[in-house]
Amino acid sequence: MSSLTNQIAVVTGAGSGIGKAIAKELSTLGAHVYVTDINEENALHVASEIKGEGYMATAYKLDVSNSTDVSDFFQKVNQLHERVDILVNNAGIAGTPSLISNMTDEEWKKMLAIHVNGSFFCLREASKMMRKNRYGRVINMSSLASETSLAGFAHYGAAKYAIVGLTEAAAKELAAYNVTVNAIKPGVIRSALTQGILSMAEERLSLATPNQKIGEPRDIAQVVAMLAKPESSFVTGASIVVDGGFCLMNEMDRVVLEMLEN
Ligand SMILES: NC(=O)c1ccc[n+]([C@@H]2O[C@H](COP(=O)([O-])OP(=O)(O)OC[C@H]3O[C@@H](n4cnc5c(N)ncnc54)[C@H](O)[C@@H]3O)[C@@H](O)[C@H]2O)c1
Repeated sequence: MSSLTNQIAVVTGAGSGIGKAIAKELSTLGAHVYVTDINEENALHVASEIKGEGYMATAYKLDVSNSTDVSDFFQKVNQLHERVDILVNNAGIAGTPSLISNMTDEEWKKMLAIHVNGSFFCLREASKMMRKNRYGRVINMSSLASETSLAGFAHYGAAKYAIVGLTEAAAKELAAYNVTVNAIKPGVIRSALTQGILSMAEERLSLATPNQKIGEPRDIAQVVAMLAKPESSFVTGASIVVDGGFCLMNEMDRVVLEMLEN
């Protein structure tokens, strides 16, 4: 028996990239995964791939930035299962790079609406069931952009730092209910979100990573799966960097390593 057998998992933004890999990983461990995404076609495609492999999945069109849609969705999950064991707040966008002086209200608000409001709305609804059932595992997708915010991405950085704040408060509120809440800070991972930057600078970015590769969605899914297991009960409020060592390396490391290796 797998360790997530018959658990109910909700993954947002699961129609592509990291979310898709997470949905697949949790389903192979035995969870019934709600593959939710604003892009219904992609959600249906991922759910049918999972079912085709003999695991359990249900596709659902969900815009996480819409509070009413989120609460309707969790009400349906509650009516059907009376529980949600795992929530992965993964839905996100990269947005358009822009200097703060040029950034529009619309760009700023959209970024916060999806990442911050979306994670909050889903966590609020899921936590009601988790508290009642005295069990839950929540994993929020932050980013290396909340280790140090990127120039040109003030909206993205602000949103990803906010997700860490939400994670820490929720971890404290829910610990007594056997609910853990953690964040993951991925480095550069190959997906639709990074297609543009990788097409320009893949070699440079892999050389800047100690293990000299670009991360794959599965690299993040493995860590999510670990945090989602009942056994990970002592990890809470943590923000885990998963970046192949990217944020550790600086120019001095490169100079010294080059000197010693050659
Ligand atoms: N790829 C990376 O290098 C990287 C690094 C750090 C953090 N992240 C984070 O990982 C998460 C997943 O990104 P990805 O790289 O897989 O990108 P992706 O573009 O492949 O996937 C994002 C998914 O979110 C969905 N989405 C967008 N807006 C939504 C909304 N309002 N409601 C519901 N779903 C919505 C999209 O339809 C898409 O399926 C994001 O939160 C992103 O910020 C990615």
